[in-house]
Amino acid sequence: MNGSREALFAFAQTVIDPGKPGATVVCPNPFYQIYEGAALLSGAQPYFAPSVAERNFAVDWDSVPDEVWKRTQLIFVCSPGNPTGAVMPLSEWEKLFALSDKYGFVIASDECYSEIYFRDEAPLGGLEAATRLGRTDFKRLMMFTSLSKRSNVPGMRSGFVAGDAELIKSFLLYRTYHGGAMSPTIQQASIAAWNDEQHVVENRALYRQKFAEITPMLAKVMDVALPDASFYLWAGVPQSLGMSDTEFAKALLAQYNVTVLPGSYLAREANGINPGAQRVRMALVAETAECREAAERIVKFIQSRT
Ligand SMILES: Cc1ncc(COP(=O)(O)O)c(C=O)c1O
Repeated sequence: MNGSREALFAFAQTVIDPGKPGATVVCPNPFYQIYEGAALLSGAQPYFAPSVAERNFAVDWDSVPDEVWKRTQLIFVCSPGNPTGAVMPLSEWEKLFALSDKYGFVIASDECYSEIYFRDEAPLGGLEAATRLGRTDFKRLMMFTSLSKRSNVPGMRSGFVAGDAELIKSFLLYRTYHGGAMSPTIQQASIAAWNDEQHVVENRALYRQKFAEITPMLAKVMDVALPDASFYLWAGVPQSLGMSDTEFAKALLAQYNVTVLPGSYLAREANGINPGAQRVRMALVAETAECREAAERIVKFIQSRT
């Protein structure tokens, strides 16, 4: 596929039956914005399950009421998570598989950050979790990943899906009509990138170095910690500034030329709270020196106002 974004979107179109009353897609909140658009355009309504600091950013699946699970046809999970970097443990997978068995929904597992991690062990993926739990038919499970993060080539548009053979059949049928074929040049470059692990190890080492340097700099002035994985810092805007996340991001850009994403844009208000409010997402993708300079400016900005 041409990256995982189109696959996440297209997959929802193949899974959702909008003819069934109350078609629902459960998403984490905050979340990668494609999930919501995919749900809406497939004719379903999204239902948001919060992921907040108090639970170490684990999604609170228990907060989803029974009557919502009953009409749920698809859930998106994102591990390592964007923007929180949280990784789902086996126990969480076990819970989701049990819910999927009970209610019949499909699990779309977005794993495109799986190769950028800070612990010794690679994050547990959906297929591995299923295998460990004896679910080797991967029933109602599909995983999505791409070269974009692992090889730092988001513009190349190359990814793949794997999982339940039945689901792949209907996905393939949909792509026969809607999916653009990948150019042979990109195919060849993709094969080379997927077959080489050395550059991925080096890429990960660069991220580890960068996060080890930048996180403590920012932790002096913001509520921020090294995530399990991914290339984001999901930082709290200091209350003492008296600014919303949007005001903070705007002022930082206007006065210090540093771009961060307001967390409230990455989440929706659900049950009276926007779990992204008062946080910002910082992508540490640029070279270390550039990230260091941006972090220094953020520190200066916050110190000048407190
Ligand atoms: C969580 C998540 N999933 C999927 C994607 C899509 O990436 P791509 O289409 O490049 O594979 C992104 C890109 O930022 C992302 O953050």
